Amino acid sequence: MFIYCTATTLNGYLATPEHSLDWLLSIPAEGVTPGGFSYAALVMGSHTYEWVLAQENLLAQPEKWAGLYGDKPVFVFSSRDLPISAGADVRVLRGPVAEHLNTIRQAAGEGNVWLQGGGELVGQFLDAGALDEIILDVAPAALATGAPLLPREVLWPRLRLLEARQSGEFARLRWRVERLG
Ligand SMILES: NC(=O)c1ccc[n+]([C@@H]2O[C@H](COP(=O)([O-])OP(=O)(O)OC[C@H]3O[C@@H](n4cnc5c(N)ncnc54)[C@H](OP(=O)(O)O)[C@@H]3O)[C@@H](O)[C@H]2O)c1
Repeated sequence: MFIYCTATTLNGYLATPEHSLDWLLSIPAEGVTPGGFSYAALVMGSHTYEWVLAQENLLAQPEKWAGLYGDKPVFVFSSRDLPISAGADVRVLRGPVAEHLNTIRQAAGEGNVWLQGGGELVGQFLDAGALDEIILDVAPAALATGAPLLPREVLWPRLRLLEARQSGEFARLRWRVERLG
């Protein structure tokens, strides 16, 4: 399954326009329960990847990569040549998502694929019929503008609620995404 799991502001932003996550990192993590799903491969856009590289100083300290991602393949969508943390299994993809689905599915085998965002990239997976679940940690915060959670029109009954519960200061919500046709 392709699972989009992310934290979001209550009004549907992932980050500020400058890609800052300070609004998220300032919220205490006590009582927050972890993801609740297993995954065998990850997908992210270039800004998300570059944020993690910088935040964790992964180019200077590549040994930290395994602590974050283990040896799981990480697919990064970008039109640019991106720096890669030494020893990391990072595969840069570009162009239509549909053309890369087989590659990603093969890398994940029987496992799930964690779509980390941003929203426009996940929207492309939705467009390609490759979005099965959305798991959100909705934060007690709003931003006036920023990187959108999912800039697409997706109406009920395509989304079916599977879970809604408290997770520390966050609200954990989970929906199944029904395939079209
Ligand atoms: N709140 C959270 O937990 C959370 C989770 C995820 C992300 N974030 C943050 O949210 C923000 C997301 O920002 P975003 O939506 O602008 O970023 P993004 O999805 O991380 O990156 C967008 C970039 O992905 C590349 N891309 C997307 N589709 C592509 C395609 N089909 N082919 C080639 N390249 C493609 C392009 O990169 P190039 O410009 O390199 O070509 C595009 O500029 C980031 O700041 C990230 O750190 C927050």
